[in-house]
Amino acid sequence: MTDTDRSDLLTAIGSAIAAAPNPDSAMKQTVRLLKDAIPYYTWVGIYLLDGDELVLGPFAGTPSPHTRIPLGNGICGAAATAKATIVVDDVNADPRYLACSIETKSEIVVPIMEDGEVFGEIDIDSDRAGAFGQRDRALLEPIASLLAERLSEGG
Ligand code: SME
Repeated sequence: MTDTDRSDLLTAIGSAIAAAPNPDSAMKQTVRLLKDAIPYYTWVGIYLLDGDELVLGPFAGTPSPHTRIPLGNGICGAAATAKATIVVDDVNADPRYLACSIETKSEIVVPIMEDGEVFGEIDIDSDRAGAFGQRDRALLEPIASLLAERLSEGG
């Protein structure tokens, strides 16, 4: 996928998020559009912060055993706590990693936040090692901001 295609994808997802009737629909459409557009996005999901746990919301891919992740656990917990994107090139070399699928090689977790408040995060796994880079951050961080705007509506 070229950078122009990615820019078009970001525009399409931004439109879907804006037009969605509610935040849940915005999250579902985001997950589906990302999974369908980018072949190496093997598993795409959104976790929402509930107290001091991350609760799995919409996802596309094989069901994960990790439907509730305490903030102190996993790469997911680390990203929400650090309030920063985390990219792991080799999940099996990262002691924080909570396995979802034996096939997963790399992961990116992008917090969904606004004004320093974390609402949740976008979590993407790839069966390819070192799959995620600057182009993925440049796609996913703006999408996370748009989702944060919808989630902060509270509806
Ligand atoms: N790998 C994540 C757990 C979620 S599953 O990948 C869907 C983590 O280490 O936090």
